[in-house]
Amino acid sequence: SLGPFQLTMLGIGAIIGTGIFVLTAEAAQKAGPGMIAAFVIAGFVCAVAALCYAEMAAMVPVSGSAYTYSYAVMGEMMAWMVGWALILEYAVAAGAVSVGWSGYVVGLLENALQIDIPNALVLGPLDGGLVNLPAAGIALLVTALLVIGTKESASVNAFLVLIKVSALVLFIILAVPVMKLENFSPFAPLGFAGISAAAASIFFAYVGFDAVSTAAEETKNPQRNMPIGLIGSLGICTIFYILVASGVIGTVGAQPVLDAAGNGLRPGSAALTAACQTAGSTHVVCSKEALAWTLRSIGWPQIGNLIGLAAGLALPSVILMMMFGQTRIFFVMSRDGLLPSSLSKVHPKFHTPHVITIITGVFVALFSAFFPVGVLADISNSGTLFAFAMVAIAVLVLR
Ligand code: ALA
Repeated sequence: SLGPFQLTMLGIGAIIGTGIFVLTAEAAQKAGPGMIAAFVIAGFVCAVAALCYAEMAAMVPVSGSAYTYSYAVMGEMMAWMVGWALILEYAVAAGAVSVGWSGYVVGLLENALQIDIPNALVLGPLDGGLVNLPAAGIALLVTALLVIGTKESASVNAFLVLIKVSALVLFIILAVPVMKLENFSPFAPLGFAGISAAAASIFFAYVGFDAVSTAAEETKNPQRNMPIGLIGSLGICTIFYILVASGVIGTVGAQPVLDAAGNGLRPGSAALTAACQTAGSTHVVCSKEALAWTLRSIGWPQIGNLIGLAAGLALPSVILMMMFGQTRIFFVMSRDGLLPSSLSKVHPKFHTPHVITIITGVFVALFSAFFPVGVLADISNSGTLFAFAMVAIAVLVLR
């Protein structure tokens, strides 16, 4: 019974997350104000992939993903590879979003409630801490919800989409009117290499639109509505992202932190962490909660906290969607005989694939406890790009 509007909402629900809320700082460190171009490049790559998904979803309208499409067109071997790429992609992405969530919630506790939490317990080793306990905690909580069988309902999804979109709209209303043009120059301090590196990272912000294609079986007139849902949700997110990124650059500047030789320090590296500790909290690129930090810096501390609250409420649904997608792929692969069937055992009371859900949850918690968000996002992106490429090849083969 799904129409174009519901599909677009589903897409926006899966897309907006840690990418725009957190990785904006990482993109700024890689590209400076040129991150605007990175958002456009990554959005364009995803739009082309979305057209391939739309074509596949219309030709093979079963509830599917890159795995199903590869299976249908190129056979078992390719499907097995794509399946593993998706498993890694989803699990690692869930870890990245957990780390992003932790940054906002810790920032909120520190700024709104003046609770000072030692860095050692809320940052991974590469970020200058020991273990990121809140990130691991939210990953395990979402795992527990999945084991007892929570599936996000359409109305909860619509509510969370509203929260996320309202937070971004509020940010745009407060930041865009007070932008200063001089903050945009130099536009590309690290050249095109920086912009393309930022595009490779910020690609993460667009991942998730493929969730729309998994609803193909429940869609009215998929030939028409799938492309609308896929391109519609991507298009709306792209516009939001460009406005938000402009707001960050135009208000607080987004110049990267450089080493003595004038090279940009790598995000997630000990060198950048050390440089940020010396500089104090004067650069957005050092922030773990870029949008809240920006609003606090331009004189809206309470609204900054509100954005933190919105991220704290809405990001767990992205983690849930990623982990749900992961267990679903695993389940389908073991049903097809490509993975041991013992792993997809269903819990007698909750009727959920509890074994694989718990294994996944433990891995996600470990990833998020010890790795920085950007590293996890980059690893996840490589799996996603592989899956996208396979869907594109499948379209060529079918034609
Ligand atoms: N696009 C999703 C996010 O940014 C994965 O969190």
